[in-house]
Amino acid sequence: MTQVRAGILGTGHAYPEGILTNADLEKIVETTDEWITSRTGIKQRRKAAPEEYTSQFAVRAAREALERAGIEAAELDLILCATVTPDQILPSTGCLIQAQLGANKAAAMDIVAACSGFTYGLSLADAMIRGGQAKYVLVIGAEILTRYVDYTDRATCVLFGDGAGAAIVGPVEGDRGILATKIRSDGRYEEQLYAPGGGTKGGFTAETIARGDHFFKMKGNEVFKVAVRSMSEVSRDVLCQAGLKTADVDLFIPHQANQRITDAVANMLNVDQSQVYSNISMHGNTSSASIPIGLDECVEAGRVKPGDIVLLASFGGGFTWGGVVMRW
Ligand code: ACO
Repeated sequence: MTQVRAGILGTGHAYPEGILTNADLEKIVETTDEWITSRTGIKQRRKAAPEEYTSQFAVRAAREALERAGIEAAELDLILCATVTPDQILPSTGCLIQAQLGANKAAAMDIVAACSGFTYGLSLADAMIRGGQAKYVLVIGAEILTRYVDYTDRATCVLFGDGAGAAIVGPVEGDRGILATKIRSDGRYEEQLYAPGGGTKGGFTAETIARGDHFFKMKGNEVFKVAVRSMSEVSRDVLCQAGLKTADVDLFIPHQANQRITDAVANMLNVDQSQVYSNISMHGNTSSASIPIGLDECVEAGRVKPGDIVLLASFGGGFTWGGVVMRW
């Protein structure tokens, strides 16, 4: 019996109306448009209004993906919502999305893998579909990171933005679909990128809030080095698993953390800049949402054609990293 192959059937994305430019940040912290642009490539990022929450953007992105896939929410077997900025601690944002979509037969849960959440989700969806446990899986990356950013810390507050991206994964025919995935982690790097407050270890009290323990803290230049190395390695690994070379890649969508990281990874892999997608100038780092937003923007712009080899690579807090290669 030939095994079912999984592929992406439809994509969507959504983000808040609010825009925070580098000029706006110049008024908040000691920074300049010149520093942010030259060190990160970011010019602006989306910022949710105080009354907005993560699942709203996730649901908008999911509805677009369902429509493009020609699938009803009631046909979904599983919803995987990658987020480190959930609506609330319990229930999962996945369950809140399940209810809003009316996905009546779907299991739902969150994936907490920071910026690698979407590649983790694709990898799990692929395994569930190939294993016959699910037919249609909705994978979402959705974040309101600006809620967890300390706007007195210039080293982190200039980086992050809000948004959501979604993909419907289901059975595909022919030679298209997901060819290989690989996901990894190394928790020894916990304190390079973390938010210590709000859990059972760090606690959630007036003191921890006043100290800002719930805000993201990052040793940027340490993260930078491991990110470049890990994304390059995992990209090579998944291409090798699929029997492909970097020269076969038509479109490379890396996690959008920093333009310099993207350039360094593309350089290490020897992928031509024209094949690398970047939207960091417009959105900043949207963590788990960055790859699915990028993928949907490429679909909308006609930048990905049937038969193209698409490579995704992620890296985030944990540390976590992952790669996915597919034939579109
Ligand atoms: N404006 C002006 N100066 C600044 C700013 C700012 N916004 N931020 C830092 N600086 C200063 C620092 O204070 C330092 O000054 P000093 O030399 O006087 O001490 C100087 O700039 C250099 O600081 P570095 O931290 O060494 O700057 P670097 O070139 O490494 O850039 C950055 C910092 C942009 C954070 C970069 O390291 C980076 O992008 N790291 C990776 C981020 C990442 O990939 N995160 C993972 C995913 S996120 C997730 O998982 C949720």
